[in-house]
Amino acid sequence: MIYPKFAENPILAATNKPTSGVAPLAYTISVNGKARTVDVDADTPLLWVLRDVLQMTGTKFGCGIAQCGACTVQVDGNAVRSCITPVSSLGAKKVTTIEAVGATPVGARVQKAWLDLDVVQCGYCQSGQIMSAAALLSKTPKPTDEQIDTAMSGNVCRCGTYTRIRAAIHKAAQA
Ligand code: FES
Ligand code: FES
Repeated sequence: MIYPKFAENPILAATNKPTSGVAPLAYTISVNGKARTVDVDADTPLLWVLRDVLQMTGTKFGCGIAQCGACTVQVDGNAVRSCITPVSSLGAKKVTTIEAVGATPVGARVQKAWLDLDVVQCGYCQSGQIMSAAALLSKTPKPTDEQIDTAMSGNVCRCGTYTRIRAAIHKAAQA
Protein backbone atom coordinates (compact mmCIF):
# COMPACT_ATOMS: atom_id res chain seq x y z
CA MET A 1 0.00 0.00 0.00
CA ILE A 2 1.31 3.46 -0.89
CA TYR A 3 0.14 6.17 1.44
CA PRO A 4 -1.80 8.96 -0.30
CA LYS A 5 0.80 11.66 0.26
CA PHE A 6 3.51 9.43 -1.17
CA ALA A 7 1.40 8.62 -4.21
CA GLU A 8 0.83 12.32 -4.90
CA ASN A 9 4.54 13.09 -4.88
CA PRO A 10 6.69 11.22 -7.44
CA ILE A 11 9.86 11.68 -5.37
CA LEU A 12 8.28 10.27 -2.25
CA ALA A 13 6.57 7.49 -4.19
CA ALA A 14 9.97 6.46 -5.57
CA THR A 15 11.71 6.53 -2.20
CA ASN A 16 8.96 4.90 -0.21
CA LYS A 17 8.19 1.93 -2.37
CA PRO A 18 5.98 -0.63 -0.73
CA THR A 19 7.28 -4.12 -0.19
CA SER A 20 5.34 -6.22 -2.64
CA GLY A 21 3.70 -9.32 -1.33
CA VAL A 22 3.90 -8.30 2.33
CA ALA A 23 0.57 -8.94 3.95
CA PRO A 24 -0.74 -6.42 6.50
CA LEU A 25 -0.05 -7.47 10.07
CA ALA A 26 -0.91 -6.12 13.45
CA TYR A 27 2.05 -4.53 15.18
CA THR A 28 2.03 -3.65 18.84
CA ILE A 29 4.35 -0.75 19.53
CA SER A 30 5.09 1.30 22.63
CA VAL A 31 4.12 4.94 22.17
CA ASN A 32 4.44 7.35 25.07
CA GLY A 33 4.35 4.51 27.56
CA LYS A 34 1.28 2.80 26.14
CA ALA A 35 1.06 -0.33 24.02
CA ARG A 36 -0.69 0.51 20.76
CA THR A 37 -1.72 -2.13 18.24
CA VAL A 38 -1.92 -1.00 14.64
CA ASP A 39 -2.97 -2.99 11.59
CA VAL A 40 -0.63 -1.72 8.90
CA ASP A 41 1.88 -2.97 6.36
CA ALA A 42 5.35 -3.84 7.63
CA ASP A 43 6.94 -0.99 5.72
CA THR A 44 4.53 1.69 6.89
CA PRO A 45 6.62 4.57 8.24
CA LEU A 46 6.17 5.35 11.92
CA LEU A 47 5.24 8.91 10.96
CA TRP A 48 2.07 7.74 9.25
CA VAL A 49 1.24 5.34 12.03
CA LEU A 50 1.41 8.24 14.47
CA ARG A 51 -0.44 10.77 12.36
CA ASP A 52 -2.96 8.76 10.36
CA VAL A 53 -3.61 5.72 12.52
CA LEU A 54 -3.14 7.00 16.06
CA GLN A 55 -4.26 10.57 15.26
CA MET A 56 -1.20 12.05 16.95
CA THR A 57 -0.50 15.00 14.69
CA GLY A 58 2.13 16.79 16.75
CA THR A 59 4.82 15.04 14.71
CA LYS A 60 5.08 16.77 11.34
CA PHE A 61 5.59 15.68 7.76
CA GLY A 62 8.15 17.76 5.91
CA CYS A 63 10.13 15.90 3.26
CA GLY A 64 9.52 12.20 3.83
CA ILE A 65 13.14 11.39 2.98
CA ALA A 66 15.06 12.12 6.20
CA GLN A 67 16.23 15.54 5.05
CA CYS A 68 14.36 18.05 7.24
CA GLY A 69 13.84 16.67 10.76
CA ALA A 70 10.21 17.78 11.05
CA CYS A 71 9.16 14.20 11.80
CA THR A 72 11.68 13.62 14.61
CA VAL A 73 10.58 11.46 17.52
CA GLN A 74 12.61 9.57 20.10
CA VAL A 75 13.10 5.81 19.93
CA ASP A 76 14.68 4.51 23.13
CA GLY A 77 15.77 8.09 23.80
CA ASN A 78 17.48 8.64 20.46
CA ALA A 79 16.31 11.23 17.95
CA VAL A 80 14.92 9.32 14.97
CA ARG A 81 13.32 10.39 11.68
CA SER A 82 9.94 8.73 11.83
CA CYS A 83 9.33 9.22 8.09
CA ILE A 84 11.90 6.54 7.24
CA THR A 85 11.35 4.25 10.23
CA PRO A 86 9.26 1.23 9.26
CA VAL A 87 6.83 0.16 11.93
CA SER A 88 8.19 -3.38 11.69
CA SER A 89 11.63 -2.19 12.83
CA LEU A 90 10.45 -1.01 16.23
CA GLY A 91 9.84 -4.24 18.12
CA ALA A 92 9.86 -3.48 21.86
CA LYS A 93 11.60 -0.14 21.50
CA LYS A 94 9.95 2.80 23.23
CA VAL A 95 8.68 5.64 21.07
CA THR A 96 8.27 9.08 22.62
CA THR A 97 6.58 11.90 20.72
CA ILE A 98 6.11 15.61 21.22
CA GLU A 99 2.77 14.86 22.88
CA ALA A 100 4.56 13.29 25.87
CA VAL A 101 8.12 14.60 25.95
CA GLY A 102 7.03 17.36 28.34
CA ALA A 103 6.32 14.70 30.95
CA THR A 104 10.04 13.94 31.18
CA PRO A 105 12.28 16.21 33.28
CA VAL A 106 14.52 17.06 30.31
CA GLY A 107 11.59 17.58 27.97
CA ALA A 108 9.88 19.89 30.46
CA ARG A 109 13.05 21.99 30.78
CA VAL A 110 13.38 22.22 27.02
CA GLN A 111 9.78 23.29 26.52
CA LYS A 112 10.05 25.92 29.27
CA ALA A 113 13.24 27.33 27.74
CA TRP A 114 11.52 27.41 24.33
CA LEU A 115 8.70 29.47 25.81
CA ASP A 116 10.97 31.72 27.88
CA LEU A 117 13.05 32.63 24.82
CA ASP A 118 10.15 32.77 22.33
CA VAL A 119 11.95 30.36 20.05
CA VAL A 120 9.01 29.57 17.81
CA GLN A 121 8.17 31.47 14.66
CA CYS A 122 5.75 29.62 12.32
CA GLY A 123 6.18 26.53 14.48
CA TYR A 124 6.13 23.86 11.82
CA CYS A 125 9.61 22.49 12.52
CA GLN A 126 9.49 22.95 16.26
CA SER A 127 8.20 19.62 17.49
CA GLY A 128 11.12 17.99 15.69
CA GLN A 129 13.52 20.57 17.08
CA ILE A 130 12.33 19.95 20.63
CA MET A 131 12.59 16.18 20.27
CA SER A 132 16.17 16.46 19.00
CA ALA A 133 17.10 18.96 21.72
CA ALA A 134 15.66 16.77 24.48
CA ALA A 135 17.50 13.73 23.11
CA LEU A 136 20.74 15.71 23.08
CA LEU A 137 20.36 16.96 26.65
CA SER A 138 19.44 13.53 28.00
CA LYS A 139 22.84 12.26 26.83
CA THR A 140 24.90 15.45 27.05
CA PRO A 141 23.56 17.56 29.92
CA LYS A 142 25.87 20.55 29.25
CA PRO A 143 26.52 20.62 25.50
CA THR A 144 28.92 23.02 23.82
CA ASP A 145 27.87 25.14 20.85
CA GLU A 146 29.59 22.64 18.59
CA GLN A 147 27.78 19.69 20.16
CA ILE A 148 24.48 21.52 19.79
CA ASP A 149 25.13 22.37 16.17
CA THR A 150 26.08 18.78 15.41
CA ALA A 151 23.07 17.29 17.17
CA MET A 152 20.64 19.76 15.62
CA SER A 153 22.12 19.84 12.12
CA GLY A 154 19.44 17.56 10.71
CA ASN A 155 16.58 19.77 11.87
CA VAL A 156 15.86 22.44 9.28
CA CYS A 157 14.01 25.64 10.18
CA ARG A 158 13.00 27.74 7.21
CA CYS A 159 12.12 30.58 9.60
CA GLY A 160 15.75 30.66 10.74
CA THR A 161 15.24 30.26 14.48
CA TYR A 162 18.63 28.57 14.90
CA THR A 163 20.14 31.22 17.17
CA ARG A 164 17.22 31.06 19.58
CA ILE A 165 17.21 27.26 19.47
CA ARG A 166 20.85 27.17 20.51
CA ALA A 167 20.24 29.70 23.29
CA ALA A 168 17.24 27.75 24.54
CA ILE A 169 19.22 24.52 24.67
CA HIS A 170 21.87 26.27 26.78
CA LYS A 171 19.13 27.67 29.04
CA ALA A 172 17.53 24.23 29.45
CA ALA A 173 20.97 22.80 30.24
CA GLN A 174 21.43 25.29 33.09
CA ALA A 175 17.97 24.81 34.58
S1 FES B 1 9.69 14.45 7.17
FE1 FES B 1 11.15 13.14 8.06
S2 FES B 1 13.04 14.18 7.87
FE2 FES B 1 11.62 15.40 6.75
S1 FES C 1 9.72 28.00 13.12
FE1 FES C 1 9.03 28.06 11.06
S2 FES C 1 10.08 26.41 10.10
FE2 FES C 1 10.98 26.55 12.05
